[in-house]
Amino acid sequence: MSVPFFLAPMAALSHRALRELIDEFGGCDEYFSEMLSAPSLLAANPLEAYYLDNGPVPEKLVYQLVGADREILAKAAALLDERDCRGIDLNMGCSAPEIVRIGAGVWWMDHPDEAFALVGQLRSAVRHHRFSVKLRLGSDDNLDRLITFCRGLEREGVDLITLHPRTSKEKLKRRARWTAVEEVKKALSIPVAGNGDIEDAAQLVHRARCGCDAVMAGRAAVKSPWIFAQARSLEGLREPLEDIDLLAVADRFLELLEKYQPREYFESRAKKFFLYFCENLTWAHHVRTLLGRESERSGMVRVLEDYFAQNDQDRYISATIRGSFKTS
Ligand SMILES: Cc1cc2nc3c(=O)[nH]c(=O)nc-3n(C[C@H](O)[C@H](O)[C@H](O)COP(=O)(O)O)c2cc1C
Repeated sequence: MSVPFFLAPMAALSHRALRELIDEFGGCDEYFSEMLSAPSLLAANPLEAYYLDNGPVPEKLVYQLVGADREILAKAAALLDERDCRGIDLNMGCSAPEIVRIGAGVWWMDHPDEAFALVGQLRSAVRHHRFSVKLRLGSDDNLDRLITFCRGLEREGVDLITLHPRTSKEKLKRRARWTAVEEVKKALSIPVAGNGDIEDAAQLVHRARCGCDAVMAGRAAVKSPWIFAQARSLEGLREPLEDIDLLAVADRFLELLEKYQPREYFESRAKKFFLYFCENLTWAHHVRTLLGRESERSGMVRVLEDYFAQNDQDRYISATIRGSFKTS
């Protein structure tokens, strides 16, 4: 049995255009949405339709909610529960200062009693779908406290936990501690997904063998939207991929972005994507600077065409990794 692969929730990145691009390479098992603000969802402003887009595969889409107010979160969860999706996830891991300041994201982990009350309320609101929570380690590396917290979530009826094993103070520099994922998995009866620092398909396969119930990848899936298909191919579960034409992938992404994003989001989301995608290029920083001056798809494609005309060795990359990862 192969372990499921998840696309991580990433603000301004985990939207329909990226999901569709990943899906065209063969997809992954579940796509977590970028975090959706519960109050904005209830205010039903016109841009919410874009956040609610569950395509291209609604049964694989997990909506992630973020918020500070129990009642509002419960109403937003009930609203999402009426939509076609795989599940609803609660963000208890975001450590961005503007989120923590309002009492959302990882703030809940520092306030366990409030967190358990919230989760109990959301559990009652989510009646038709899987209800999950995404976490960090908490404010420090105290594994006992983390396990106590996770057991509390389990008791309140959470169906799945995703652990991104960094403390709330750590940015993405210090390495994720995957041993914590293994320890939490051992301590709970519900499934536990691990997340953090997957850099390529081989690591995805490696982590899938470390005992967790699912592996989630974020930034690497933006850099290499084919990573999940490549991992399945390493496991011997699908044919190897053809060589990847980076210009064609970038152009396709921009086409999808134009199709699915509101006009006012196009430029910022394109640039966010290129922050990671350009890591495939020898002169990544230079290309990002040039792309940063463009606001339209045509200008961005022109920058890339010029770059590949001068650096043709960068344009095609092999997606075939040799190794002995076949599952028995
Ligand atoms: C640009 C960006 C936006 C993110 N937004 C969210 C978010 O909306 N919700 C969330 O739970 N985590 C968010 N994260 C954290 C990721 O889901 C993930 O936990 C983190 O990037 C580590 O995984 P990775 O090493 O595979 O990227 C974000 C991360 C990045 C880089």
